[in-house]
Amino acid sequence: MRLAIISLGGTSSELIGKEAKDFFDHVELLDIRKIEVTAGFKELEALYEKKPIKDYDCVYIRGSFNYSLLQRSLTFILQNKNVYMPFQPDSFTIAHDKFLTSLALQKAGVKVPKTYLAATMKAAKKLLEEVHFPIIMKVPSGSQGKGVMSADSLASARSMLDTLESLRQPVILQEYIETDATDIRAIVAGKKVVASMKRKGRAGEIRSNIHQGGVGIAYELDYDAENIAVKAAKAVNADICGVDILEGVKGNLVLEVNLSPGLRGIMNATKKNVAKSIAEFLHNQTIEFKSRENNKGYEEIMKGIKAKSDKEILTNLEIKAGKIRLPELMTKMSGFEEGEEVVLVAENGKIEVKKHDIK
Ligand SMILES: Nc1ncnc2c1ncn2[C@@H]1O[C@H](COP(=O)(O)OP(=O)(O)O)[C@@H](O)[C@H]1O
Ligand SMILES: [Mg+2]
Repeated sequence: MRLAIISLGGTSSELIGKEAKDFFDHVELLDIRKIEVTAGFKELEALYEKKPIKDYDCVYIRGSFNYSLLQRSLTFILQNKNVYMPFQPDSFTIAHDKFLTSLALQKAGVKVPKTYLAATMKAAKKLLEEVHFPIIMKVPSGSQGKGVMSADSLASARSMLDTLESLRQPVILQEYIETDATDIRAIVAGKKVVASMKRKGRAGEIRSNIHQGGVGIAYELDYDAENIAVKAAKAVNADICGVDILEGVKGNLVLEVNLSPGLRGIMNATKKNVAKSIAEFLHNQTIEFKSRENNKGYEEIMKGIKAKSDKEILTNLEIKAGKIRLPELMTKMSGFEEGEEVVLVAENGKIEVKKHDIK
């Protein structure tokens, strides 16, 4: 199987590429700046250094919001070419815009801070008369903490809006959530959080981003927070992403979803090989995608996850907060459904889950 990682060539992409060599037969790192997408010719085409992008089984597109249109177009074209991609075209449009993300998150039932978008700066200034201070202002496409500001008073908020207007920058206003400059960063792969940490901003800073001097500390999410992170990923149709969460007094609020999360900080903080988890996830997903596409069914999937037989799989046990979690495939094979009544029998080194037959 062949994997292409399309990115700006950063450390995280390189780390994933290196780990992916253990899972894929062929791995290539492509520079997003050398991609061209064309319409109006014989067929819709994506070119790399002027040549059609070769056949890959999996394409993982990373890179910043500057490439949103290209990322979206590329996904749109490759979608019809039997390629597994961890995103849908609209993932890039939504996730690269913090306001659209807030809308998508709330629609999916994920709580977000109160956020406002005004059509004009004049209207934004008017809004300021109704809000509580401090207030957060954000450039919707900002990243690494660079487009996030806090204003303590009406006067400072107004002058910030003037500055943004003169720079022709759009802005969103957001309620400030008191967390002592601490947030949670979770890396989601499919239905799981593969690593999570708390980030604490440096003294005098409200932003906890590592790029702004924040420090990461390993932090295991509870089920609620993990569910929220997975739901947030799903809300933007991303199979792989970073999710930023604030633990406010009213519960967990999601700030944004990052499609190209940096991995070095979280790998250092958690000592987990997140690059490997992502590479392995891409591989398993590609197998599942291909077998679905080719109608091969479970036999093919089983091959990809070290199956011992069609009833057994070899895996590492996952225990979180004292609860055992089984692979999704086991659930599928068992035919169990949510809420089904079962009998559990445990003895040393063995657990049995049986349907409760009421005779
Ligand atoms: N509404 C808010 N209340 C409190 N802190 C915030 C809020 N929004 C952002 N922050 C802080 O600023 C950081 C960066 O904000 P975020 O929306 O994630 O933008 P970026 O894309 O730049 O990381 C967050 O990780 C958090 O520490
Ligand atoms: Mg962030």
